[in-house]
Amino acid sequence: MSRGCFITLEGTEGVGKSTNVDLVQALVTAAGHECVVTREPGGTPLAEEIRDLLLRVREESVSQMSELLLMFAARAQHIEHVIEPALARGDWVVCDRFTDATYAYQGGGRGMDVGSIEVLERLVQGDLQPDLTIYLDVTPEIAAARIRERDLDRFEQEERIFFDTVRTVYQTRAQRLDRFRVVDAGAPLDQVQADVRKVLARFLAGKHV
Ligand code: TMP
Repeated sequence: MSRGCFITLEGTEGVGKSTNVDLVQALVTAAGHECVVTREPGGTPLAEEIRDLLLRVREESVSQMSELLLMFAARAQHIEHVIEPALARGDWVVCDRFTDATYAYQGGGRGMDVGSIEVLERLVQGDLQPDLTIYLDVTPEIAAARIRERDLDRFEQEERIFFDTVRTVYQTRAQRLDRFRVVDAGAPLDQVQADVRKVLARFLAGKHV
């Protein structure tokens, strides 16, 4: 039994990740693979509790280090209980966000030391990295307009400058890392979905499916 593939979707809020996660799941399943869909922070009962701690708006200010360590605590639980077992049994894993989000939000938005993130990444993940990362890119203006109607969580309440930096880090990583594919998520939904289909088709072809 060969190991499954690990696909992640990334982007700032308001890029339409959930809709595209559903599409990727449908395409992977149609190609004949068992597909586990999950998300970060979260993906196990304990990691979902940590997500709730992280996203809830609260009076106490949250130290950047607490935030970073909680992200990786949730990730450790998620990898051990969901991601690794699934990949080991040959299932494919489609995950809404992973460690690229930590580089973008904690490293970029919060301005935390990237060296510390690298140390935690190594400690928690070992060699585990996504095989394919689809980065859905939109301008902060479009993203802000799309989330305007929501009850904003602790991250969504950040200022515009925070999301500009998050986007810059994602774009830089997308240029630097081969596993990234960038999709213009500011386009109409059917165009975005056509682009996601193309990315998946190429990836699946590369896997000789
Ligand atoms: P979302 O999954 O609903 O988009 O929200 C999760 C929030 O958590 C989002 O604002 C990004 C943030 N986040 C980080 O700051 N660092 C991380 O490592 C991850 C996975 C998410």
